Amino acid sequence: MALITKKIKGTEDVLPKESYRWQFIEQVMREESKAYGFKEIRTPVFEHTELFARGVGQTTDVVQKEMYTFDTKGGESITLRPEGTAGAARAVLEHALENEGLPIKASYFVSCYRYEKPQAGRLREFHQFGLEEYGTQQPIADAELICAAQSVFDRLGIKQLRLELNSIGCPTCRADYHKALKDYFSQYKDKLCDTCLSRLDKNPMRILDCKSPICSEIAKDAPKITDYLCDECRNHFEDVKKYLDAAGIEYVVNPTIVRGLDYYTKTVFEFVTDCIGAQGTVCGGGRYDGLIEELGGKHLPSLGFAMGLERLLMVMDSQGIEIPDNDVCSLYIATMGEKAKAKAFALLRKVRECNLTAETDVVGRGLRAQMKYADKIGAKYSLVIGDNELEKNSAELKNMETGEKTEMALDDTFAEKFSLISLSDHKSFKI
Ligand code: HAM
Repeated sequence: MALITKKIKGTEDVLPKESYRWQFIEQVMREESKAYGFKEIRTPVFEHTELFARGVGQTTDVVQKEMYTFDTKGGESITLRPEGTAGAARAVLEHALENEGLPIKASYFVSCYRYEKPQAGRLREFHQFGLEEYGTQQPIADAELICAAQSVFDRLGIKQLRLELNSIGCPTCRADYHKALKDYFSQYKDKLCDTCLSRLDKNPMRILDCKSPICSEIAKDAPKITDYLCDECRNHFEDVKKYLDAAGIEYVVNPTIVRGLDYYTKTVFEFVTDCIGAQGTVCGGGRYDGLIEELGGKHLPSLGFAMGLERLLMVMDSQGIEIPDNDVCSLYIATMGEKAKAKAFALLRKVRECNLTAETDVVGRGLRAQMKYADKIGAKYSLVIGDNELEKNSAELKNMETGEKTEMALDDTFAEKFSLISLSDHKSFKI
């Protein structure tokens, strides 16, 4: 039968057999967020278009080329979020969270939508884990945030990630820098792509981030922001590095990092790998001291990062990092006859109350096929209930790996006793 439709280009399904991988990394991220004092924020998947146009920036690729924007029946322009920062900032402002004490520390898991050309590690729907912190301009906060990202990678066992660091200054130092960039790029007006030509006057820094091979070749020799930093930005950057050094976090300063979104000021950083192809940036972030004001709030210096879950899983695969699958079936009860089925049903309910995965036949298989199925799903223990077992009200619990058998009473003590047996070989979820 022909399917009436398939998934949309650039989107992925996460199937039941692989969701444990996502749950595992999300669990580690939740634990690390908690350790650093962040609490989860959940915001809508769509927002008014102007939030991203103003927040992310009119001259960015994301806003100019990649947003999923449409008009509602009521005539409003709305956009599927291309990233998590703008929505979180909007919510912080709308709920006046600054009145609850600073800093505000929010974590999130979001699906994001960007109309980019799909390739390995680049999707049109992808997922981010992010941390955002509002209300501090201290360099220690930048270092702490970078530390939090590093802790997630360490906990996941990821190696060979390079932390690349830069400062892109503040509006004060950027005025001179913009002029220098404009002078430089004006020499290449006949070579720049149309988008970059339009950026020359409005925001020449964006040309540094253009994906066209010709523009990026020209950008290689462009003036570097680090030569234009004002004293405050330079000192801030030096202090961030000092704290990272103190924490033993390795980094390289890469003066060409400008990031693809307009809200950044001062510190910017990326965690990059060479092991998953061209889309090697696993995590990106930095300070955005002007965003809250841009969105209509008071001055509230802020910072954050987001990491792509798909890319992270690709890195773990490429580095052969095994993810523990704790979704295994602890007990499979095979049955013969209606009475046995009812008995199994009652016992399983109690076993499941002990937070264990337990199953029985629900598709009408014969005994042999039931045992084959128990094997297939990797059940740790199995038990067969037939007339004999019902009569003596006990059955043999079989350890499917060792073949070892234990006689078990099929009464109120069953679930607790099984749970103790099962606990003794339960692997911890935490690595
Ligand atoms: P971003 O660099 O655009 O930053 O995205 C962050 C991460 O999301 C990237 O490093 C990458 O892992 C993942 N990502 C981005 N685009 C795609 C895609 N098309 N397919 C798969 N993964 C992708 C931001 O979004 C900022 N909001 C980060 C931030 C938070 N800055 C401050 N706070």
